[in-house]
Amino acid sequence: MSIQYNQIRIGKLLAVLKGAALLPIKTNSVGMLGRISGKLTVKNKGEFIVGRNVSFHAKPFSSSISVGKQAKLLVGDNVFFNYGLDIGCTQSIRIGSNTIIGPMVNIIDTNFHPVDIDDRMQSKDIVISDNVWIGRGAVILPGVTIGQNSVIASGSIVTRDIPANVLAGGTPAKVIREINVPNEWIRRYN
Ligand SMILES: CC(C)(COP(=O)(O)OP(=O)(O)OC[C@H]1O[C@@H](n2cnc3c(N)ncnc32)[C@H](O)[C@@H]1OP(=O)(O)O)[C@@H](O)C(=O)NCCC(=O)NCCS
Repeated sequence: MSIQYNQIRIGKLLAVLKGAALLPIKTNSVGMLGRISGKLTVKNKGEFIVGRNVSFHAKPFSSSISVGKQAKLLVGDNVFFNYGLDIGCTQSIRIGSNTIIGPMVNIIDTNFHPVDIDDRMQSKDIVISDNVWIGRGAVILPGVTIGQNSVIASGSIVTRDIPANVLAGGTPAKVIREINVPNEWIRRYN
């Protein structure tokens, strides 16, 4: 796992993300921190740390990020989040650098409701490694690790770990095939 996180120290995005508990953002801010377009709602009661050049394209459908008390949402450098994003972080979600998150993607580290009376409903850490591409409408469920360079096909429900360097897809997501990703090749979007 080679995820590295560089905390932004100064700048509008940090102010925005660390600001009020509920903050509707309607802005277009461009800079070394990347771009926010459309409406991104951040409810942050824990820690939300983003790297450099992280962009949120939150239109035509708005995006929502919620980080609970004592929870940690870490995002690496050069990450692009497309519209309709829905992240629910109650414990720990890490997203690696050079990763592309497609439209209408949902990432949750808890089920939010018990399945039955015995269900202890634990939160489980999610790791999305460097250089991953998550296709449109995919759902990443609690406890999942997605390996470096891998691609999650659109509409997939990811319930179990996905290894590095594969295309995975379906419900539940399974490895479809290996993919060819040379060492230096990155999924730079912006
Ligand atoms: C990731 C993706 C590009 C891979 O495409 P590809 O490499 O051309 O894959 P193929 O079309 O050759 O499909 C390979 C196999 O995976 C299956 N497959 C492809 N997409 C799938 C999906 N979303 N869910 C389940 N299985 C899928 C195919 O049916 C095929 O199976 P088969 O060999 O039994 O016929 C494509 O699956 C995808 O998700 N496209 C949408 C990308 C997207 O979300 N873009 C929005 C902007 S980020």
